[in-house]
Amino acid sequence: MLDKKVEDLKILFTQEQIEKRIEELAEKINNDFGTKEDLTLICVLKGSSIFFCDLSKHLKMPVQMEFIRVSSYGNSQTSSGHVQAMDLTLPNLEHKNVLIVEDIIDTGCTMKFLLDILCRTHKPKNLKVVTLLNKKIARKTDIEPDYYGFDIDDKFVAGYGLDYEGYMRNLPYIGYFE
Ligand code: IMP
Ligand code: MG
Repeated sequence: MLDKKVEDLKILFTQEQIEKRIEELAEKINNDFGTKEDLTLICVLKGSSIFFCDLSKHLKMPVQMEFIRVSSYGNSQTSSGHVQAMDLTLPNLEHKNVLIVEDIIDTGCTMKFLLDILCRTHKPKNLKVVTLLNKKIARKTDIEPDYYGFDIDDKFVAGYGLDYEGYMRNLPYIGYFE
């Protein structure tokens, strides 16, 4: 049994706010990458799944979609700092434009881990990071996203892909527990 319920979530960003912000992010990405060259989007499962799909619909260049899975949180609400690679299967990304799509950057350990591996083993032409949420205040690494949707306080959030104990990813909004 979960000790927190959906009803306990205080809304932080509504569905409308998220949609509007994603359109703005996509416009920036379209401008920066242009519409001619291919872009490989990498979805960091599971958290970024919903953001990834919604963002991709607004991109105008030829897009390829890839999925990797890492785990850092386990079931606790604070970042363990240990990143576990569950599935990092990717095609050859050498000389490609690559955009990693994350739900949230908290300590930055997950993103540091991913950037190290991608740079070392794939040597992409251009490697950028977009995250919907930026928990800048909780950072323990020097990682900064190239694009982010919203800066948030050091609160545990759920909804719109982000889970609480595996649940609540399906909510169309993002909320926090007090
Ligand atoms: P980091 O490695 O500490 O930056 O943590 C990144 C990962 O932890 C994210 O990809 C999320 O899956 C998860 N995470 C961090 N903060 C939260 C939160 O507030 N709610 C749900 N998941 C979170
Ligand atoms: Mg994640």
